[in-house]
Amino acid sequence: MSYSDQNEFFARAYRTGTDRWTNTPFSRRADELMLYLPKGAMILDIGAGRGGLLFELQSIGFHVIGLENNSELVTRGNEEIKNKKIQNEARFIAGDALSIPLADASFDATIDIGLLHHLIPSHHTEYMKEVARVLKHEGFFFLAVLSAETEHFFNHSPKHDGTVDRNLEGVHYHFFSDEEIRALVEPYFNVRSIVHETPFGSKDVVYSIVLLKKK
Ligand SMILES: C[S@@+](CC[C@H](N)C(=O)[O-])C[C@H]1O[C@@H](n2cnc3c(N)ncnc32)[C@H](O)[C@@H]1O
Repeated sequence: MSYSDQNEFFARAYRTGTDRWTNTPFSRRADELMLYLPKGAMILDIGAGRGGLLFELQSIGFHVIGLENNSELVTRGNEEIKNKKIQNEARFIAGDALSIPLADASFDATIDIGLLHHLIPSHHTEYMKEVARVLKHEGFFFLAVLSAETEHFFNHSPKHDGTVDRNLEGVHYHFFSDEEIRALVEPYFNVRSIVHETPFGSKDVVYSIVLLKKK
């Protein structure tokens, strides 16, 4: 399947400032990687969007690369990096999460806030394998995905009617059960924790925040 409509949806949203997912108020946040990693550790933010997290992680002492398949965001992000004079610690690169243009075992941690659930299920294993490939042994993977505990998603309820795949305006949404996450990551990762979060305050939209450690 082609993701061209989905990519166009994201590009239009960023261009028009309607990217509602940017700054989703999660209480469990990827900066908890500070607890596990030394300053200077290399982190890859997959589907980095506008780069809010990338700049935050850089400011607390990590080296961060943001991977994006949206070239406008890559250009804009790298201009911001240049203006802030932090080129030695941060960079955006253009590329596809299903074929990450980076070397094996080059990161201490990877992060995905809201990308994986936009891939169709037949790509999930390929994605997980690719993330594991670029991580060092015992590297961390911090993941936030939509949960199958979500009660209302437009006119469906993943929790109550079991609709866990939706396509809206060309954008794919997959709602993960915890069992599915465990089975998907099992070949590559040990699960440190999976917690459910309702960042908008109701169970209408539930996320799973997942911390994994590479085997
Ligand atoms: C829902 S947004 C989340 C952005 C950011 N992580 C955040 O929390 O604000 C998903 C992001 O992934 C990017 N993306 C989608 N598919 C991708 C792919 N195959 N490879 C790389 N980036 C992708 C989109 O351009 C978009 O910025």
